[in-house]
Amino acid sequence: MHAPGLVKTVGVDNPGDSDPTTELARFEELARRRRTNLRIDVGRPVPEALVRRLCDVAQWAPNHHRSWPWRFAALTGDARRRLGAVVAEDLRAVAASPEKIAKAEGKYLRAPLMLAVAVGHGADDGDERRVEDRDAVAAGIQNLLLGATAAGLASYWGSGAVLGLDGVRALCGFAPTDTLVAMIYLGYPLGEVPAPARPDPVLHLVS
Ligand SMILES: Cc1cc2nc3c(=O)[nH]c(=O)nc-3n(C[C@H](O)[C@H](O)[C@H](O)COP(=O)(O)O)c2cc1C
Repeated sequence: MHAPGLVKTVGVDNPGDSDPTTELARFEELARRRRTNLRIDVGRPVPEALVRRLCDVAQWAPNHHRSWPWRFAALTGDARRRLGAVVAEDLRAVAASPEKIAKAEGKYLRAPLMLAVAVGHGADDGDERRVEDRDAVAAGIQNLLLGATAAGLASYWGSGAVLGLDGVRALCGFAPTDTLVAMIYLGYPLGEVPAPARPDPVLHLVS
Protein backbone atom coordinates (compact mmCIF):
# COMPACT_ATOMS: atom_id res chain seq x y z
CA MET A 1 0.00 0.00 0.00
CA HIS A 2 1.30 3.46 -0.91
CA ALA A 3 1.36 5.83 2.06
CA PRO A 4 -0.15 9.31 1.48
CA GLY A 5 2.48 11.97 0.83
CA LEU A 6 5.05 9.53 -0.48
CA VAL A 7 6.15 9.90 -4.07
CA LYS A 8 5.58 6.96 -6.37
CA THR A 9 8.21 7.00 -9.04
CA VAL A 10 8.01 5.35 -12.41
CA GLY A 11 10.80 3.06 -13.51
CA VAL A 12 11.63 0.91 -16.50
CA ASP A 13 9.95 -2.09 -14.90
CA ASN A 14 7.02 -0.01 -13.75
CA PRO A 15 5.89 2.35 -16.51
CA GLY A 16 2.85 3.23 -14.41
CA ASP A 17 1.10 4.73 -17.40
CA SER A 18 -2.37 3.78 -16.17
CA ASP A 19 -1.76 4.85 -12.58
CA PRO A 20 -2.73 8.53 -12.07
CA THR A 21 -0.97 8.72 -8.71
CA THR A 22 2.58 8.33 -9.97
CA GLU A 23 4.79 11.40 -9.92
CA LEU A 24 5.08 11.28 -13.71
CA ALA A 25 1.31 11.09 -14.18
CA ARG A 26 0.84 14.06 -11.85
CA PHE A 27 3.51 16.00 -13.70
CA GLU A 28 1.91 15.18 -17.05
CA GLU A 29 -1.43 16.43 -15.77
CA LEU A 30 0.16 19.71 -14.63
CA ALA A 31 2.06 20.20 -17.90
CA ARG A 32 -1.08 19.58 -19.94
CA ARG A 33 -3.17 21.86 -17.71
CA ARG A 34 -0.84 24.88 -18.19
CA ARG A 35 -2.57 27.08 -20.69
CA THR A 36 -1.95 30.41 -22.39
CA ASN A 37 -4.86 32.19 -20.75
CA LEU A 38 -5.64 35.89 -20.73
CA ARG A 39 -8.97 35.51 -18.95
CA ILE A 40 -7.51 37.10 -15.83
CA ASP A 41 -9.03 38.83 -12.79
CA VAL A 42 -7.36 42.25 -12.97
CA GLY A 43 -8.68 43.21 -9.53
CA ARG A 44 -6.98 40.39 -7.64
CA PRO A 45 -3.27 40.98 -7.01
CA VAL A 46 -0.67 38.25 -7.15
CA PRO A 47 1.15 38.13 -3.79
CA GLU A 48 4.78 39.25 -3.98
CA ALA A 49 5.88 36.17 -2.03
CA LEU A 50 4.36 33.98 -4.74
CA VAL A 51 6.11 35.95 -7.49
CA ARG A 52 9.44 35.52 -5.69
CA ARG A 53 8.78 31.80 -5.36
CA LEU A 54 8.04 31.47 -9.08
CA CYS A 55 11.22 33.35 -9.98
CA ASP A 56 13.14 31.06 -7.66
CA VAL A 57 11.76 27.89 -9.24
CA ALA A 58 12.60 29.31 -12.69
CA GLN A 59 16.24 29.35 -11.62
CA TRP A 60 16.20 25.58 -10.99
CA ALA A 61 16.30 25.08 -14.75
CA PRO A 62 19.63 23.92 -16.15
CA ASN A 63 22.11 26.55 -17.31
CA HIS A 64 25.46 25.92 -18.95
CA HIS A 65 28.59 27.18 -17.14
CA ARG A 66 26.37 28.13 -14.18
CA SER A 67 25.98 31.56 -15.67
CA TRP A 68 22.66 32.18 -13.86
CA PRO A 69 21.32 34.28 -16.74
CA TRP A 70 17.77 34.92 -15.49
CA ARG A 71 16.59 38.48 -14.89
CA PHE A 72 13.07 39.31 -13.75
CA ALA A 73 11.00 42.47 -13.32
CA ALA A 74 7.50 42.43 -11.82
CA LEU A 75 5.41 45.36 -13.03
CA THR A 76 2.26 46.17 -11.10
CA GLY A 77 0.02 49.22 -10.67
CA ASP A 78 1.03 52.24 -12.74
CA ALA A 79 4.15 50.51 -14.07
CA ARG A 80 1.86 48.49 -16.38
CA ARG A 81 0.50 51.75 -17.83
CA ARG A 82 4.04 53.09 -18.26
CA LEU A 83 4.95 49.89 -20.08
CA GLY A 84 2.05 50.45 -22.50
CA ALA A 85 3.11 54.09 -22.89
CA VAL A 86 6.63 53.08 -23.95
CA VAL A 87 5.23 50.74 -26.61
CA ALA A 88 2.75 53.39 -27.75
CA GLU A 89 5.55 55.96 -28.07
CA ASP A 90 7.45 53.56 -30.31
CA LEU A 91 4.35 53.07 -32.45
CA ARG A 92 3.82 56.83 -32.73
CA ALA A 93 7.38 57.16 -34.03
CA VAL A 94 6.50 54.88 -36.96
CA ALA A 95 3.15 56.63 -37.55
CA ALA A 96 1.04 53.63 -36.54
CA SER A 97 -2.73 53.99 -36.59
CA PRO A 98 -4.48 55.62 -33.60
CA GLU A 99 -6.29 52.31 -32.96
CA LYS A 100 -3.02 50.42 -32.72
CA ILE A 101 -1.55 53.04 -30.39
CA ALA A 102 -4.62 53.01 -28.13
CA LYS A 103 -4.52 49.21 -28.00
CA ALA A 104 -0.86 49.25 -26.93
CA GLU A 105 -1.61 51.78 -24.19
CA GLY A 106 -4.19 49.53 -22.55
CA LYS A 107 -2.58 46.18 -23.31
CA TYR A 108 -0.72 45.56 -20.07
CA LEU A 109 -3.62 46.58 -17.87
CA ARG A 110 -5.25 43.23 -18.67
CA ALA A 111 -3.42 41.50 -15.81
CA PRO A 112 -2.58 42.68 -12.28
CA LEU A 113 1.04 41.76 -12.84
CA MET A 114 3.35 41.73 -15.84
CA LEU A 115 6.49 39.68 -15.33
CA ALA A 116 9.28 40.63 -17.70
CA VAL A 117 11.96 37.96 -18.13
CA ALA A 118 15.31 38.68 -19.73
CA VAL A 119 18.68 37.10 -20.40
CA GLY A 120 21.49 38.87 -18.57
CA HIS A 121 24.42 39.01 -20.98
CA GLY A 122 28.03 39.69 -20.05
CA ALA A 123 29.96 42.19 -22.17
CA ASP A 124 32.30 39.48 -23.49
CA ASP A 125 29.70 36.77 -24.16
CA GLY A 126 30.22 35.02 -27.48
CA ASP A 127 27.44 33.73 -29.74
CA GLU A 128 27.39 30.22 -28.24
CA ARG A 129 27.14 31.54 -24.71
CA ARG A 130 24.35 33.95 -25.71
CA VAL A 131 22.33 31.17 -27.33
CA GLU A 132 22.80 28.80 -24.41
CA ASP A 133 21.86 31.45 -21.87
CA ARG A 134 18.70 32.19 -23.81
CA ASP A 135 17.91 28.47 -23.85
CA ALA A 136 18.35 28.39 -20.08
CA VAL A 137 16.06 31.37 -19.61
CA ALA A 138 13.36 29.75 -21.78
CA ALA A 139 13.68 26.53 -19.77
CA GLY A 140 13.32 28.59 -16.60
CA ILE A 141 10.21 30.27 -17.96
CA GLN A 142 8.58 26.88 -18.42
CA ASN A 143 9.37 26.05 -14.78
CA LEU A 144 7.80 29.36 -13.83
CA LEU A 145 4.66 28.79 -15.93
CA LEU A 146 4.19 25.31 -14.49
CA GLY A 147 4.67 26.71 -11.00
CA ALA A 148 2.10 29.40 -11.74
CA THR A 149 -0.33 26.71 -12.94
CA ALA A 150 0.25 24.69 -9.79
CA ALA A 151 -0.41 27.83 -7.72
CA GLY A 152 -3.76 28.34 -9.45
CA LEU A 153 -2.64 31.27 -11.62
CA ALA A 154 -3.45 31.96 -15.25
CA SER A 155 -0.44 32.89 -17.37
CA TYR A 156 0.26 34.13 -20.87
CA TRP A 157 3.71 34.38 -22.49
CA GLY A 158 3.58 37.56 -24.59
CA SER A 159 6.27 38.61 -27.04
CA GLY A 160 6.55 40.96 -30.02
CA ALA A 161 8.16 44.37 -30.52
CA VAL A 162 7.87 45.22 -26.81
CA LEU A 163 10.79 42.88 -26.12
CA GLY A 164 13.21 44.90 -28.23
CA LEU A 165 12.59 48.39 -26.88
CA ASP A 166 15.31 50.20 -24.91
CA GLY A 167 12.63 52.06 -22.96
CA VAL A 168 11.15 48.76 -21.78
CA ARG A 169 14.56 47.48 -20.67
CA ALA A 170 15.08 50.73 -18.77
CA LEU A 171 11.62 50.60 -17.16
CA CYS A 172 12.34 47.04 -15.99
CA GLY A 173 15.74 47.99 -14.60
CA PHE A 174 17.54 45.65 -17.00
CA ALA A 175 20.93 46.45 -18.51
CA PRO A 176 20.92 47.85 -22.08
CA THR A 177 22.69 44.66 -23.19
CA ASP A 178 20.10 42.28 -21.69
CA THR A 179 17.73 40.44 -24.03
CA LEU A 180 14.07 40.37 -23.07
CA VAL A 181 12.44 37.05 -23.97
CA ALA A 182 9.02 37.17 -22.35
CA MET A 183 6.42 39.57 -21.08
CA ILE A 184 4.26 37.28 -18.98
CA TYR A 185 0.74 38.21 -17.94
CA LEU A 186 0.03 36.71 -14.53
CA GLY A 187 -3.11 36.68 -12.41
CA TYR A 188 -5.92 34.59 -11.05
CA PRO A 189 -8.14 33.09 -13.76
CA LEU A 190 -11.67 34.21 -14.51
CA GLY A 191 -12.23 31.16 -16.69
CA GLU A 192 -10.56 28.51 -18.76
CA VAL A 193 -9.62 28.43 -22.42
CA PRO A 194 -9.58 25.36 -24.66
CA ALA A 195 -6.33 23.44 -25.03
CA PRO A 196 -4.90 23.43 -28.55
CA ALA A 197 -4.39 19.82 -29.64
CA ARG A 198 -0.81 18.63 -29.86
CA PRO A 199 0.60 16.66 -32.80
CA ASP A 200 2.22 13.33 -32.12
CA PRO A 201 5.85 13.80 -31.14
CA VAL A 202 8.33 13.55 -33.97
CA LEU A 203 10.55 10.92 -32.39
CA HIS A 204 13.23 9.07 -34.30
CA LEU A 205 14.16 5.85 -32.54
CA VAL A 206 17.73 5.28 -33.57
CA SER A 207 19.56 2.17 -32.37
C1 LIG B 1 8.44 32.41 -27.34
C2 LIG B 1 6.93 32.47 -27.24
C3 LIG B 1 6.29 33.65 -27.55
C4 LIG B 1 4.89 33.73 -27.49
N1 LIG B 1 4.27 34.91 -27.79
C5 LIG B 1 2.93 34.98 -27.79
C6 LIG B 1 2.27 36.20 -28.12
O1 LIG B 1 2.90 37.23 -28.35
N2 LIG B 1 0.92 36.20 -28.17
C7 LIG B 1 0.20 35.07 -27.91
O2 LIG B 1 -1.02 35.12 -28.00
N3 LIG B 1 0.79 33.92 -27.53
C8 LIG B 1 2.14 33.85 -27.47
N4 LIG B 1 2.75 32.68 -27.08
C9 LIG B 1 1.94 31.56 -26.60
C10 LIG B 1 1.53 30.61 -27.70
O3 LIG B 1 0.63 31.25 -28.58
C11 LIG B 1 0.85 29.37 -27.05
O4 LIG B 1 1.81 28.72 -26.23
C12 LIG B 1 0.31 28.40 -28.09
O5 LIG B 1 -0.80 28.96 -28.76
C13 LIG B 1 -0.14 27.06 -27.46
O6 LIG B 1 -1.14 27.29 -26.47
P1 LIG B 1 -0.94 26.80 -24.97
O7 LIG B 1 0.24 27.59 -24.39
O8 LIG B 1 -2.21 27.15 -24.25
O9 LIG B 1 -0.67 25.35 -24.99
C14 LIG B 1 4.13 32.59 -27.10
C15 LIG B 1 4.82 31.40 -26.77
C16 LIG B 1 6.19 31.34 -26.83
C17 LIG B 1 6.89 30.06 -26.44
